[in-house]
Amino acid sequence: MTDPKVMSLDERRAALDVISKEVRACAKCELHSGRTLAVPGAGRPDAELMFIGEGPGYHEDQQGLPFVGASGKYLGELLALIGLTRNDVFITNVIKCRPPANRDPLPGEIDTCVPAYLNRQIEIINPKIIATLGRFSMGLFFPPDTRITKVHGQPKRADGRIYFPLFHPAAVLRNLNLRPAMEEDFKRIKTLLTEAQQQAVVETPKPDDDPPFKQLSLF
Ligand code: URA
Repeated sequence: MTDPKVMSLDERRAALDVISKEVRACAKCELHSGRTLAVPGAGRPDAELMFIGEGPGYHEDQQGLPFVGASGKYLGELLALIGLTRNDVFITNVIKCRPPANRDPLPGEIDTCVPAYLNRQIEIINPKIIATLGRFSMGLFFPPDTRITKVHGQPKRADGRIYFPLFHPAAVLRNLNLRPAMEEDFKRIKTLLTEAQQQAVVETPKPDDDPPFKQLSLF
């Protein structure tokens, strides 16, 4: 594969389409047997900002698109707050198929799905900012005992990009007290985008227990 840093828009789109086709036909874990449609992700193939949610819910499973239910409507409102639309970003999930009764993803499902699909999507899109939505997505890039209530809205700079942990929109819809914090965190994305566009990202010093990002295969 061409180094994503020098890929054209069309090359990125084509490479993402290959992954989407694989996701739609995937039978690597048991979730495939209960799904209506797998949900690979959607948005700009060269997005500077990528959102990673947890996994498809009912509406996403029906439509094959990420964040199209109540959480998605709220995500759209948050994006509008900072002058963006879904077409300006790339939105995907840790796992690509809906778990039964919307239960949490199992460790085995995450370990199977992330290297097969999400890590490749990240490599191709090569976003400047990865905004994680909820604890499962945050758990891919932050140490295991990280509390979302403590670190939301605090950017971590590593691998030449910014990882930005956010509450899951569904959690905010369930607990409206989180709304002001979520909206403040979103507004910070604007500043972070300017930072990432203007200068090389200076890494945040790593604590000893930080995951080594080995899940991202390097060239
Ligand atoms: N919640 C998620 O985590 N992802 C979706 O796509 C929809 C709801």
